[in-house]
Amino acid sequence: MPEKKTYYITTPIYYPSGNMHIGHTYTTVAADTMARFKKMQGYDTYFLTGTDEHGQKIERKAEEKGVTPKAYVDEIVANAKDLWKLMEVEYNDFIRTTDERHEKVVQKIFRQFYEQGDIYKGSYEGLYCTPCEAFWTPTQVVEKDGVKCCPDCGRPVEPMQEESYFFRMSKYQDWLLDYLQTHPDFIQPASRANEMINNFLKPGLQDLCVSRTSFKWGVPVDFDPKHVVYVWIDALSNYISALGYDTPDDHLFRKYWPADVHLVGKEIVRFHTIYWPIMLHALGLPLPKQVFAHGWLLFGNDKMSKSKGNVIYADDMVELFGVDATRYFVLHEMPFENDGVITWDLVIERFNSDLANILGNLVNRTVSMSNKYFGGVVTSTGVTGEVDADLKAVVTETRDRIAGKMAKLRVADAISEVFALFRRCNKYIDETT
Ligand code: MSP
Repeated sequence: MPEKKTYYITTPIYYPSGNMHIGHTYTTVAADTMARFKKMQGYDTYFLTGTDEHGQKIERKAEEKGVTPKAYVDEIVANAKDLWKLMEVEYNDFIRTTDERHEKVVQKIFRQFYEQGDIYKGSYEGLYCTPCEAFWTPTQVVEKDGVKCCPDCGRPVEPMQEESYFFRMSKYQDWLLDYLQTHPDFIQPASRANEMINNFLKPGLQDLCVSRTSFKWGVPVDFDPKHVVYVWIDALSNYISALGYDTPDDHLFRKYWPADVHLVGKEIVRFHTIYWPIMLHALGLPLPKQVFAHGWLLFGNDKMSKSKGNVIYADDMVELFGVDATRYFVLHEMPFENDGVITWDLVIERFNSDLANILGNLVNRTVSMSNKYFGGVVTSTGVTGEVDADLKAVVTETRDRIAGKMAKLRVADAISEVFALFRRCNKYIDETT
């Protein structure tokens, strides 16, 4: 038998600073849907998710709660795993950045970068946003009432200076620009690729701060232990550490790398399409085939946030509507390129119009007629007419159209095709009463 084609899909590894909400659930369910679809098509699939557990924010949250950072994240990770189980998410592996298997790989990678001159020691001066764990340049921050604020979350930033290691991103800038321009499918949807090229690459890449000394909760730099590896080298390497990269048992790595798709939200596309390709290139590894960035699920017009108190959790939706309806809702509501919107009213409307009226009606009419007229047994009567031929054609065309949409990660569009078919089937029943 020829070897099955492989398909490796990942979600971002989420920060376990709080429980996962419907936004995290969207990405995870979308990846699960893709993995299941590919499996159905005969691919040997591997689906990775996990948690990104280090950093100052978690350290502080744990302190507030009076527990160790590890105890703090353990509880949230347990909740996340319960949630994915509830959502019937069938991942192959769940990587935690506190796993020893991960930390070892991160240390090796960091050392290799240092030894080959990609990482150097310097000192960092910048405007720091603690909640986002991000440094910003004076031109990037936004001013609100005279206060310099984070362009991502809008909270105040503080000036900060410390000894840090830096990754020489600038060295790889031309290579990356050329790569992106010659691989138009690497970043999808394409509009996001233009944004990366025009807003980040063309103006010139800044070297990236990759270690910190101001907190302890991270992977120690083994040759300079007052430093911990700072966020992106730690986080991004999960996609290969989980496969056993650079360990004696690297059969998963050899089988599944490069990934077919990293599914991410639009706010982290920069890290996945600039820093990550450069890191991989510096390691001499092939790049993932695609980074797909989806929009956000907004609550009405707003970004969900705990401080606004407008966060929706999937568990609550499941309690009211069930797992399938919840999965259906998030997949249906997220368009290919833009943001999706969620409100309780919208969920109820979808539930009634799509699931009850279109699908529910079709199932109900089919099953009750089958029971009433054929004793509940479906047999081929051999009778066919023009109406049947048309229905058959629609069914097979739909299958192909769905495969086409799914190949492009247009999941919501694929769902629309499914429901168009259900409508057609309802019409068939009307036509043949
Ligand atoms: N830890 C980093 C990712 C590292 S990946 C190497 C991180 N974590 S996060 O907890 O903030 O998760 C962000 C991701 O969660 C988004 O990229 C997206 O996949 C998902 N979402 C979180 N909120 C979301 C919405 N409101 N809507 C849709 N997806 C959202 O960033």
